[in-house]
Amino acid sequence: MKKIAILTSGGDAPGMNAAIRACVRRALNFGLEVYGVERGYEGLVNNEIFQMNSQSVCDIIQRGGTILKSARCLDFKLPEVRKTAADNLKKHGIEGLIVIGGDGSFTGAKLLSDEQGINVVGIPGTIDNDLAYTDFTLGFDTAVNTVLWAINSLRDTMTSHERVSIIKVMGRHCGDIALYSGICGGAEFILVPEIPYDIKDIAEAINKNKARGKLSNIIIFAEGAGDVDKILSCLPVMTGLDTKLTTLGHIQRGGTPTMFDRMLAARFGARAVDVLIDGQTNRVVGYKNNATIDMNITEALAIKKEINRELYDIATTLC
Ligand code: ADP
Ligand code: F6P
Repeated sequence: MKKIAILTSGGDAPGMNAAIRACVRRALNFGLEVYGVERGYEGLVNNEIFQMNSQSVCDIIQRGGTILKSARCLDFKLPEVRKTAADNLKKHGIEGLIVIGGDGSFTGAKLLSDEQGINVVGIPGTIDNDLAYTDFTLGFDTAVNTVLWAINSLRDTMTSHERVSIIKVMGRHCGDIALYSGICGGAEFILVPEIPYDIKDIAEAINKNKARGKLSNIIIFAEGAGDVDKILSCLPVMTGLDTKLTTLGHIQRGGTPTMFDRMLAARFGARAVDVLIDGQTNRVVGYKNNATIDMNITEALAIKKEINRELYDIATTLC
C-alpha cells in the first residue's frame, strides 16, 4: 500500500476535520502518499481527487465541518457509477480508501471493495450515534454539548415566564442525542423514537410539577419521535401553561469539536491508516470500552442499534 485517499460522506459532523488531519499525518509519517477526495462519493465519481501534504491539514483540528466537503450521491447505488469511481482511484494509483461517514457511506465503501478491489476502511462520523458496533461516533459528543448550551439558555427564560419548553433535536431514527442531552441538561421529559409515550401522561406529570412549585418543564423531543406539532397544540390545553417549541436544527452539526471528539478523531484516524497499511479491507474502526477497535463492515452494520434502557430508566427517576 503506497497511496491512500480520504473522503467524508453523508451529513457532516464536528471532528471530521480532526480525523482527516489524523489520517493524513499518520499516513505521511509511515511514508504513504495521501490524496483527498472532495464532496464524498460525488467527487470520487467526478475525479475531484488531489494530493495532500502535512500543510494541507494545518489549523483544522479545531474547526467543525469538513475541509473535504460532503455530499449525498444517490447514483453511487449504481454499479456502473461505482466502477467509474474506482477507475478514477486506479488512475492515480490509489489502492486504499478511508471513508468518514455513517452506515450509508459504509455500505457504499463495501460495494467498492467487493466489486472493484479497492481496500476500504470506515471511520464512524455522524452526530446521530446510530451505529451499534461503536460506543460513540465522531461528532456526537460535540452535538450533545451544543444541545446542552441551548437547554441552559432555554431553562433561564422558561423559568422566568413559568413556561414549558419543547426542544427538538436531531438524530434521525436514533434517540441518543435526546437521551444524553436530556439527562445531562436535567430535562423533565425525554421523547425518543425507540420508546412509546402518551401525551396524557406528560400533561399529568407537568400538572403535578406545577402543584409542587416547579417553575419550568423541559421536554427534549428527538426528531424521529412522532408529531411534535400535536404535542405543541395539546399541552397548553391540558396544562394551562404557555408552551414554546425550539427546533435546534443544523446548529447541532457545526462548532468546534470537544476534547472527546478530537481524541476519537486522533484514535480513529491512526487506526484506519494502520488497518490499510496492514493490507486489510472492509473494516470499520470504532470505540468500545475505552479502546479503539476495528471490525468487519458487514458484521458491524448487522448489529442492531438499541436505546440504552439503563440510561433511560435513570432519566425517568431524576426529574
Ligand atoms: P450516512 O453515511 O451518514 O448514513 P447517507 O445514508 O446519506 O449518510 O449515505 C451517504 C452516501 O453513501 C449516499 O449519498 C451514497 O452516496 C452512499 N450510499 C448510501 N447507501 C448506499 C448503498 N446502498 N449503496 C451504495 N452507496 C450508498
Ligand atoms: O445524520 C445526521 C443528520 O443531521 C440527522 O440527524 C438529520 O436527520 C439529517 O442528518 C439531516 O440531514 P440534512 O442535513 O440533509 O438536512
